Amino acid sequence: MMRKCFLVRCVFMSWMVLSFHSNPVITTFTISGNSTGPDGASVSQGDNLKMTCSSSRNDILVVDWYNKPRGNGYYRMSPTVVMKVDTGGKCLFNPNYPVPTNMNCGCVSISQYTCTLISVETDMKGDMWRCRFTYGTQASSVFANTNELTIDLTVGITSTVISSPIVNPVSVIVNTEGIFQCQTSPGNPVASVVWYTDNKTSVTADDTQITSGTSTTSTPVGDLFVTRGTLTLQVQRDDQDLGVYCRARNMEQWFTSGTKKINTALILLCAKPTMSTFHHR
Ligand SMILES: *[C@@H]1O[C@H](CO)[C@@H](O)[C@H](O)[C@H]1NC(C)=O
Ligand SMILES: *[C@@H]1O[C@H](CO)[C@@H](O)[C@H](O)[C@H]1NC(C)=O
Repeated sequence: MMRKCFLVRCVFMSWMVLSFHSNPVITTFTISGNSTGPDGASVSQGDNLKMTCSSSRNDILVVDWYNKPRGNGYYRMSPTVVMKVDTGGKCLFNPNYPVPTNMNCGCVSISQYTCTLISVETDMKGDMWRCRFTYGTQASSVFANTNELTIDLTVGITSTVISSPIVNPVSVIVNTEGIFQCQTSPGNPVASVVWYTDNKTSVTADDTQITSGTSTTSTPVGDLFVTRGTLTLQVQRDDQDLGVYCRARNMEQWFTSGTKKINTALILLCAKPTMSTFHHR
């Protein structure tokens, strides 16, 4: 018996750890959101975020919702919402903690509770939430906190423009580089930018994505980011009338800039008089 245990412990160390933790049954207390991002708490401005506090236990007595506004070092002393399922299965709220008007809370079961933040606004970005479960019996109850949920706000960009050069068409000397700059409206997260050459036809299907000479940077503007793309394009003689444009997105939808036409310019390589030749005259 001893030897068998020893062997098991040596050979199946990881299995031992797992079995130790999973027996008896794991007790969990979690909070999650119904949107995007790792905890489901990345939400677009104006959307509702449904937060769910769940436990694997079925002897939950009370659930307290706690909020930590962004920039605060600590959670508020008082819970925001205090709720429970009574013995008759009814969802009850402690009237000392009235549910805020921008929230909507309910009990799904004795083990699952939800609160929806109605219309998440930019100033709620960085706010944190957690639940405290009280479980056991009235005579002998225990507290347990869930993990924390941090609200992030996604803001879709709404436009993309070529910010430089301003003129159209753009004159570029043949065999030199034309530099184009693309800029998005503010958004979160940072956008990705792609560049295209317009194949001199009206259809966009034959346009070609430019894969070299491009770079992207972003600048914070308040809680959002302006994304800038730069294209350095070597202009050839047969690029006359070639169009250049950019597209950007930070959510599903792409936004396309206007097109800049290239007007190729030739430079006559004549020997210009220099200072020294001038002196000799
Ligand atoms: C999350 O739930 C809320 C409330 O039911 C709903 O309004 C919102 O659209 C949901 N969000 C997503 C991404 O499904
Ligand atoms: C335009 O389209 C034609 C035919 O598909 C292709 O041969 C040509 O390389 C394209 N030109 C540019 C500048 O993309």
